[in-house]
Amino acid sequence: MPPETLTVIDNRTGQRYELPVERGAIRATDLRRIRTGPDDFGLLSYDPAFMNTASCRSAITFIDGDAGILRYRGYPIEQLAEHSTYLETAYLLIQGELPTAPGLESWRREITHHTWIHENLKKFLDGFHHDAHPMGMLVSAVAALSTFYPDKSDAAAAARHLQVVRLIAKMPTLAAFAYRHSLGMPYAYPDNDLSYAGNLLNMLFKATEVKYRPNPVLERALDALFVLHADHEQNCSTTAVRSVASSRVDPYCAVAAGVAALYGPLHGGANEAVLEMLQAIGSVSAVPEFIRQVKAGQGRLMGFGHRVYKNYDPRARFIKQLAEDVFAVTRPSPLLPVALELERIALEDEYFVSRKLYPNVDFYSGIIYQAMGFTPDIFTVLFAIPRTVGWLAQWQEMLTDSEQKIARPRQVYTGAPCRDFVPMAERGVGELVTA
Ligand code: ACO
Repeated sequence: MPPETLTVIDNRTGQRYELPVERGAIRATDLRRIRTGPDDFGLLSYDPAFMNTASCRSAITFIDGDAGILRYRGYPIEQLAEHSTYLETAYLLIQGELPTAPGLESWRREITHHTWIHENLKKFLDGFHHDAHPMGMLVSAVAALSTFYPDKSDAAAAARHLQVVRLIAKMPTLAAFAYRHSLGMPYAYPDNDLSYAGNLLNMLFKATEVKYRPNPVLERALDALFVLHADHEQNCSTTAVRSVASSRVDPYCAVAAGVAALYGPLHGGANEAVLEMLQAIGSVSAVPEFIRQVKAGQGRLMGFGHRVYKNYDPRARFIKQLAEDVFAVTRPSPLLPVALELERIALEDEYFVSRKLYPNVDFYSGIIYQAMGFTPDIFTVLFAIPRTVGWLAQWQEMLTDSEQKIARPRQVYTGAPCRDFVPMAERGVGELVTA
């Protein structure tokens, strides 16, 4: 067996170093041994945007981006989306194993009985302007939850479990209330007789009916979409949650950071941006001109490309199939032909092929959500609800990992060298030029 080490020769000094390699990684702190002299801090690895840095070990989600593979706790995403439910998948992500029948039932009961929120939180949501974006409201409302739970210790497993249950249970309620506020509609309270997805549909769409009965096809489709969105290892929002939680702030504030990161159009906000893009293109005949503009650097093809997938995103493949089930019970989306034509051209075009740009999870989800009756500003909210379980699984894993400490990257300083303070009278008369 060849040694599991990396030999580095520092040409500045001629010194030779053996660095251990474990699971395909060297420890960045081992580079600190590589120094030019006693005053040298040691070699750093420079990795803007964490392009090649593993910040943790994790046993939750596996992705092979080149092969288009995604697994939760070892189970292929396609099997989970087809055979599991969101709550069962949530249990798997949090506990590490699929539940037994009684285990799932008690988990379902626990989540269901924590769906209500304090009435004062409702008043807090009332304070938002009528046209506030539901994601902005959700960021604030999740953080505000922290003020309602003084018992939010993360020290013991039982205490962590309670925060996990509360967050998974209350997220749909906060999301639905934020949505109804943005529509100027009265809030619809949780109905504990319904499934997780069915209750969300109830809280979003209930009008004058005494008992809301979700369409079973749409309820199942939403649940499957939630399974697909539940976790995606160390993406931007999960990294935000882990970093913020590493300060040992409570999980409500940490998850609020995750929601904030997800809001951005390069991350979860892309599903809303995809719909806006499809509406702006408008027709199949306008697709070639739009592709030309993207290739000329005038904007991006939203819903395409991924930092990790250099192949078809397996979630996008499943969502494309799911669209057929949804459109069978709703009106077919007039934007679907535009999306299909975009995909067809992009998958043949050298620009996209050479950069390995394929549809990601957001490319088709917005079209489905629109057909189900959602307005675009809630699309990212529908991503934040299921991703909460991934954030919490990662939070739990981080807290129980003895190697983790407060997140604190290094920097390569490029600013001015040490210089003396200049009194105001000696600074000239021009305006300060800012970068
Ligand atoms: N449309 C057109 N060109 C693109 C796109 C796109 N959607 N994505 C990447 N490219 C091009 C870039 O211009 C760049 O080209 P260049 O080498 O000629 O400069 C090359 O492909 C590599 O792009 P990067 O931005 O370096 O790739 P990165 O890994 O940093 O970005 C990202 C990944 C942010 C997802 C990017 O592909 C993107 O902006 N996609 C559109 C937004 C989107 O759909 N986001 C959702 C991602 S899924 C999720 O977060 C849930």
